Amino acid sequence: MRERTACGTCKARSLSPFLDLGMQPPANALLGPRELEREESRFPLVLGHCGSCGLIQLLHSVSPELLFRNYVYFSSVSGSMSKHFAAYAQEVADRFVPPGGLVVELGSNDGVLLRNLLGRPLRVLGVDPAENVAEVARERGVPTIASFFGERLADEIRAQHGAASVILANNVFAHVENLEDVMRGVDRLLDERGVFVLEVPYVVDFLGHLEFDTVYHEHLYYFGVRPLMTLFGRLGFEVFEVQRKSVHGGTIRVHVRRAGQGAPKGRPIDGSVAELAALEEEEGASDPARLLRFAGDVAALREKLCSLIGELHRDKRRVVGYGAAAKGNVLLNYCGLGPDRIEYLVDATPAKQGLFSPGMRIPIKGPDLGGDRPDYVLLLAWNHSAEIMEKEQAYRQAGGRFIVPIPRVEVV
Ligand code: TYD
Repeated sequence: MRERTACGTCKARSLSPFLDLGMQPPANALLGPRELEREESRFPLVLGHCGSCGLIQLLHSVSPELLFRNYVYFSSVSGSMSKHFAAYAQEVADRFVPPGGLVVELGSNDGVLLRNLLGRPLRVLGVDPAENVAEVARERGVPTIASFFGERLADEIRAQHGAASVILANNVFAHVENLEDVMRGVDRLLDERGVFVLEVPYVVDFLGHLEFDTVYHEHLYYFGVRPLMTLFGRLGFEVFEVQRKSVHGGTIRVHVRRAGQGAPKGRPIDGSVAELAALEEEEGASDPARLLRFAGDVAALREKLCSLIGELHRDKRRVVGYGAAAKGNVLLNYCGLGPDRIEYLVDATPAKQGLFSPGMRIPIKGPDLGGDRPDYVLLLAWNHSAEIMEKEQAYRQAGGRFIVPIPRVEVV
């Protein structure tokens, strides 16, 4: 663990804290039954912001080897994410990839996006540090290198496959401490007129919907268009279009090209760039007073949720959690909700079943609400609310209730 003193994008040494979520284990470090005897490593989870460029970021970083080598997150488990990535893949291929062109995805996970391009007259290559996840992608026909991406790997890929027409990075850019090394790699690998497209959770949604549980050690940065423009501008790139998407509680898809080269040729910078930069200013995304209000609202949410669950416990109601998601583990640890309050978690990911949640050590099972009929289900994977509510219609019709914690505590 390392304390971070300089901003990840502008390098100013003016980071100050505004939200302390306590000492927490890595949110995806699920425990096997034998690991329950051991103490877990815990690291400070403190969010701060840069007084110079305004970027919200963690004030401590944990080794990527520890966080990403053996990963339990498989993107394809969620139907809505699979659909999102299918449409995304098609749009990018149609707009930016010439016949025979190469598409490289950084953090390609189980091939959830690239698999959609397999039938097309182009080439795909995934890069992901988690060997277990990369193997699933390969089985699906997506060639995948199990490694971290940086300048060196970029050179190797270019020597073997040539320049990339498109490089993608979805829900991974905020995970990387050394963004400059990644961007040097992008610079080496990207065709002169190539496009770098990334998706990151959007800071405006993060603040507006009180998504504090998306703060965990993997997520170093909470991006808006403004700090990204600063970063890319410094490294010889420019943002030319931004789209807002609803996944992961609110996301931006950011299109980047080499500055001044106008690739694709002649396309002007889209109005969306200035529009969203202005929105961030309006919403106070880097205003210390706004950030303190956010921290106050987070503390109030914890009070409300803990008192509701405490009451249900006194009334001898059975409560379980839905989704052994990283964000769920953050919420449970921050609120101190353990197996005495939340009997078990359900999750459809086979690799998570039979394990225990980090910190709170709640057992994880496959979903069977209909069979077991707990009284209440705490919806930890609230970003998949529509999909989960639909799957669990029968449970709800039989009188089962969901507690939705974010953006406000509600029983539905
Ligand atoms: P997600 O919110 O995507 O990720 P994060 O770990 O970044 O917070 O995780 C959702 C979890 O919920 C994931 O473990 C899969 C699980 N899930 C189900 O069990 N059933 C479902 O129907 C869906 C959509 C997700």
